[in-house]
Amino acid sequence: MVFKKIKSEGWEIKIQSMLLQKLINEEEENKKCCKRKIILGLVLCLLLCFLITGAIIYEVTKESWQATDPETKEVYFNISNVEDDKAVVSCYYTMPGSLSSSELLPSDIHSQLCTHINVAFAQIINKEIYLDNVQRQIISEVVNLKKKNPNLKVLLSIGGAGAQDGFSDMVVNHTSRKIFIKSVKHTLRNYTLDGIDLDWEFPAVKDYQNKLNKRERQHFSQLLREIRAEYVRERKDYLLTVAVAAQQIIVDAAYDVDQINMYVDYANIMTYDFHYYTQFTPFTGFNAPLFARASEQLYMATLNINYTVEMYKNKGLDASKIVVGIPTYGHSFTLVNENNTNVGSPSSGFGELGSLGFVNYPDICTFINTHENNNLDMKRDQDAKVPYLSRNSEWVSYDDTDSVIEKAKFIRKQKLRGAMIYSLNADDYKGVCRELHGQEKFPLSESVRETLKD
Ligand SMILES: *[C@@H]1O[C@H](CO)[C@@H](O)[C@H](O)[C@H]1NC(C)=O
Ligand SMILES: *[C@@H]1O[C@H](CO)[C@@H](O)[C@H](O)[C@H]1NC(C)=O
Ligand SMILES: *[C@@H]1O[C@H](CO)[C@@H](O)[C@H](O)[C@H]1NC(C)=O
Ligand SMILES: *[C@@H]1O[C@H](CO)[C@@H](O)[C@H](O)[C@H]1NC(C)=O
Ligand SMILES: *[C@@H]1O[C@H](CO)[C@@H](O)[C@H](O)[C@H]1NC(C)=O
Repeated sequence: MVFKKIKSEGWEIKIQSMLLQKLINEEEENKKCCKRKIILGLVLCLLLCFLITGAIIYEVTKESWQATDPETKEVYFNISNVEDDKAVVSCYYTMPGSLSSSELLPSDIHSQLCTHINVAFAQIINKEIYLDNVQRQIISEVVNLKKKNPNLKVLLSIGGAGAQDGFSDMVVNHTSRKIFIKSVKHTLRNYTLDGIDLDWEFPAVKDYQNKLNKRERQHFSQLLREIRAEYVRERKDYLLTVAVAAQQIIVDAAYDVDQINMYVDYANIMTYDFHYYTQFTPFTGFNAPLFARASEQLYMATLNINYTVEMYKNKGLDASKIVVGIPTYGHSFTLVNENNTNVGSPSSGFGELGSLGFVNYPDICTFINTHENNNLDMKRDQDAKVPYLSRNSEWVSYDDTDSVIEKAKFIRKQKLRGAMIYSLNADDYKGVCRELHGQEKFPLSESVRETLKD
């Protein structure tokens, strides 16, 4: 403190005493202030206590709300309306545009081929399941296969690749989800279906700028929880399954895998399309490699079935809920240099085979039959366990009976729930490949089913 020096003694004393008085006053002021501070501190402390207790209560109730405590877990997690001892063979059947077409019709599907058929794809319009007249008829006909095989389960698959995104504005709040769930109930009852399969490609990855989209991942989990709760409330053993991405970059953004694990009967993992021609990836590569190739590093080494299954397990998906996707189609490429036919060679576009590079198995068989012993080079990758072929500038990655059997064996060895087949339509339902394998129709799907049988 700085004391002002004043010449006159008398004055000086007076000022000092005045200062003393001021100091005493300040001290008393401080004491009062201190009391106030203590009271304020206590109030804050209490408030903090309340907040902490509140947070703890919230955490506890939130957990039970999410059904992770043992008792509720019993209700949700451990409900799986799939027989424990039976491997799942979950087949996608995409509905043709009309019933008179040359495409695969429900009557051509052998009722024992699959344990589950996902009739694909219904769209979501105005938050409800939308079906046109042809689709209604096809669904009824697929459900009719249950007369021949009472154990067959038929699910309606909703969404799909390239679907208009009916999911985004449906999941956004409880009210809109309720509208959807009501339409699910009606559809299941109306067509005596066994369940639904949600194929949203993909939550939270479309428009990163949009704040609402970032919550889609949470909203998707909430939707699954609410559908499961509705099944339980209705005391129905309906199935709830999902089709989920394989690439970690999508999985990280789109799903709370532990939540999915709690509410679905099983998840169909779309373990294909790991490599195909795009202008950003102008190289040959395998559609569905089972394992990484020895030369693959880092990100490239993640693009295979083995890695994907391990990743899902690590994120909390139970082995008993993992259904591994097996494609019945391949991808074609055009080589830049026809003498350079290795995996990873430069490619300038889709191949001539197929549509946009997607080649159905019978088209591959026909190509092989046509060009056998005529400049056709057929190989198999010992690491990835898949075949590939090339002829002139055409290069095709595909799956044959041997490679799908390898995949089914992997599923058995890893004690996973089963296989998903995408799709019956791309398999050889007409018997075009018979010359090649001397086999019945649907050679790839049949091989998977046979391998997964006990
Ligand atoms: C589910 O139930 C089975 C018996 O019904 C039990 O063996 C298994 O541990 C349960 N799983 C979980 C994750 O609670
Ligand atoms: C739910 O979202 C819809 C838009 O999809 C909106 O019209 C409605 O008001 C919302 N309801 C609530 C309760 O927030
Ligand atoms: C139930 O099915 C019938 C006949 O297929 C159809 O006319 C009706 O609209 C369906 N109702 C719902 C709610 O889907
Ligand atoms: C499969 O994945 C596991 C776990 O990541 C790894 O340890 C194993 O080496 C992989 N197998 C092959 C053949 O790459
Ligand atoms: C491919 O190899 C053949 C024979 O070795 C050669 O004649 C041809 O020019 C090569 N083609 C290209 C595009 O390099």
